[in-house]
Amino acid sequence: MPVPFLDLRRQHREIESEVNSALARVTSSSAFILNGEVEAFETEWARFCGVREAAATNSGTDALALALIATGALSRGKDHEVITSPLTAGYSALAILSAGAVPVFADINPRTYTLDPESVEKAITPRTRAIIPVHIYGQMADIEGICQVASRHGLVVIEDAAQAHGAVSLGKRAGAHGIAAAFSFYPTKNLGAYGDGGAVTSNDVQLCQRVKSLREGGHLEALQLSEIGRNSRLDEIQAAVLRIKLKYLEEWNLRRLSFAKMYLDQLSGLSSRLTLPYASEPGAHVYHLFVVQRENREALRAHLSRQGIETMIHYPFLLHQQPLFRRQRQRPLPVAEGLVKRILSLPLYPHLKVDELLAVSRAICEFEE
Ligand SMILES: Cc1ncc(COP(=O)(O)O)c(C=O)c1O
Repeated sequence: MPVPFLDLRRQHREIESEVNSALARVTSSSAFILNGEVEAFETEWARFCGVREAAATNSGTDALALALIATGALSRGKDHEVITSPLTAGYSALAILSAGAVPVFADINPRTYTLDPESVEKAITPRTRAIIPVHIYGQMADIEGICQVASRHGLVVIEDAAQAHGAVSLGKRAGAHGIAAAFSFYPTKNLGAYGDGGAVTSNDVQLCQRVKSLREGGHLEALQLSEIGRNSRLDEIQAAVLRIKLKYLEEWNLRRLSFAKMYLDQLSGLSSRLTLPYASEPGAHVYHLFVVQRENREALRAHLSRQGIETMIHYPFLLHQQPLFRRQRQRPLPVAEGLVKRILSLPLYPHLKVDELLAVSRAICEFEE
């Protein structure tokens, strides 16, 4: 049975009439930039994450960069360093560069695939200013461990929560742990727009105010330029769509969780050959992606592909090994370097069909027997 990795048309069909009326509302007002929808979404998103404030941006990349700048922890031209994970989208590190800092990479935990606080501590230098743990694949990073390292060294923590909308650790949602957090609303995310979008969340209202100024060129109220900003606004159409989809996020995350449980049940017998995802605490994983590990993953991938089952690799290359981010002083990162050759993402999204999930599991079991 052919199984697409992701088919967003199924999600659209579930909410089509609501989306169409929201689009009609915005287009008939013809107020496309920073009108009521963005402000309402910011209030609703901050409430969902359990923080005082949110500032919407045009992407997750800009949300990260503007959050970093708004902390005031970096000075341009000083080669300040920001430590992050090598196993993430290149955008996480591009954001650090675009904020005027140098990305430095630390190793990850072999079970959760998120930043390892001990490795972070070893990567700290006198130029380090911030740590960006990435809640990769929907799994919360060890935020307590990271915050302890940060407070010992006077560093700020910004969560990269682009893949973890709604995940919970230590009783708080992703986005409510660091001094600030950045979300992406790229269409494939657990909460995705109908185009690009992002947001910063924080309990520091002034930090969010600064992001709101930076996303509009760096203007103050009276259109006076105060610092170098950029044009990074979320538009009203995206905000209107996000407000609808936010109402479904918890239910869709629960569907992801129940599909993850089904895969775990179906595949648990293969645990000597296939390493399955691990959740550090209940609610800490919202399964943005369902990633397994296997030696010679290409053989399994080819077998699935012959049956029309699509898989992906998130990510085929680690960031510290990419030309843009290579540095002479970078330490080896053995856990990430071993893992990157074995990871394979299986189809999992709220609108997957049970038959499709069972077909994927069956095909994997057949291959392994
Ligand atoms: C972990 C992570 N960080 C940052 C980003 C960047 O977000 P965006 O594509 O909205 O700029 C993404 C999405 O690609 C991501 O997955």
